[in-house]
Amino acid sequence: MPKEKIVFFCQSCGAESSKWMGQCPACKEWNTLVEEIVSAKKGSKVVRTETRAKVTKLKDIESAEEQRITTQITELDRVLGGGIVPGSMVLVGGDPGIGKSTLLLQVCRNLAASNQNILYVSGEESLQQIKIRAERIGEFSDNLSLLCETNLEVVGEIVGKERPKVVVIDSIQTMYNENVASAPGSVSQVRESTGSLLQLAKGLGIAVFVIGHVTKEGVVAGPRVLEHMVDTVLYFEGDRHAAYRILRGVKNRFGSTNEIGVFEMRSEGLEEVENPSEFMLGGKPEGASGSVVACSMEGSRPILLEVQALVCHSNFGIPRRTAAGTDFNRVNLLMAVLEKRVGLQMGNCDAYVNIAGGIKMNEPAIDLGIILALVSSYKNRPIDEKTICFGEVGLSGEVRAVNMAEQRILEAKKLGFTTCIVPEVSKASLHKIEGIQIIGVKNVKEAIDKMV
Ligand code: TYD
Ligand code: MG
Repeated sequence: MPKEKIVFFCQSCGAESSKWMGQCPACKEWNTLVEEIVSAKKGSKVVRTETRAKVTKLKDIESAEEQRITTQITELDRVLGGGIVPGSMVLVGGDPGIGKSTLLLQVCRNLAASNQNILYVSGEESLQQIKIRAERIGEFSDNLSLLCETNLEVVGEIVGKERPKVVVIDSIQTMYNENVASAPGSVSQVRESTGSLLQLAKGLGIAVFVIGHVTKEGVVAGPRVLEHMVDTVLYFEGDRHAAYRILRGVKNRFGSTNEIGVFEMRSEGLEEVENPSEFMLGGKPEGASGSVVACSMEGSRPILLEVQALVCHSNFGIPRRTAAGTDFNRVNLLMAVLEKRVGLQMGNCDAYVNIAGGIKMNEPAIDLGIILALVSSYKNRPIDEKTICFGEVGLSGEVRAVNMAEQRILEAKKLGFTTCIVPEVSKASLHKIEGIQIIGVKNVKEAIDKMV
């Protein structure tokens, strides 16, 4: 019998400790250490007479044409960097009920339809429940196999026998490894399970999709370690009550990160949204103060969005400030810039900033949008509806250059906007674009004078 030992794991960052502590010494979170039983590893003796590992020169490695399997869902392919790479491991995280199982079942459906052997392993739902979901989505081909199993050894055996092209593991938190004593979903279980799936993926060249639930703080429940192990991490986000969902690439060894895919949840599954800007601007009020259209680059794609602000007199000593969809501290900073560099007395005002549509945007290029929305609401003067703006705002109130200005302007033109407020520095490098007026601004004051 191997000896069992008790270890405490932080459920937030995966740090290990031999005794319980109120605060995790690694990530400084409180009350996250949980007791887990780990069987001590048998002392394995490493006997090496000759090493089989060989050093190879980079120039001697043949560059294999990287073949990708397309999921036939353009939005997903883009986030993956052009399709599924065989032998890769993709983690799909998101809140419960956001649509992870639905998305991956649709992926399975498309892949199976193109004559590839696919295995969907569910540890959460019964075969009947998956069938009900599949019936909502549509016709399925015969190449899709389902398995309800939580024991990873059994999964491994079946995968070895069936040799599917793609395996989907519906929730890593339900899987367990018999060699680990702690409960499914605990840090050591999830880590071990991911490790054995990784071996399966790399060993047999099978692409593995792993679904992971996230905690309310927005990290994959339990271990951050999981993110280091897998090749690609995708997060599914969006308001569960709203129809659209955003799939965001957070890490990608085979493509660029920051790409997003936009979907809409319909009664017959997830539908791609081809023009997200149009979608985001739907329902924008006309002639209202405190609303302005800004542009943010998400990976290679510009997205127009509406920044809303409401500034009103505060009835209490300490003004209330909230920011939905953007960084709260950034909003506070921009308000300080307005106070000091433009001379607006915002110290006794409540301010609420919102990115309409519930999407989260943290690119500094929307700074100018936030500033203009705040001032527009403060002065109660609407901003011209056919105008968009973008630019990063510095602490001295200067408007700094942003990248890919031209793409942003072209996107605005496509949606019928006629004026663009851009950083003066970016304007210099721009070609003339027909049908749209480009106004360069050096600082916040200039932008406000021109617009509000
Ligand atoms: P699901 O994929 O089960 O979420 P997750 O696996 O991330 O927990 O999605 C569940 C939600 O999606 C559920 O509230 C019902 C809704 N839904 C639709 O609106 N249309 C559909 O066609 C399907 C399959 C689900
Ligand atoms: Mg699910």
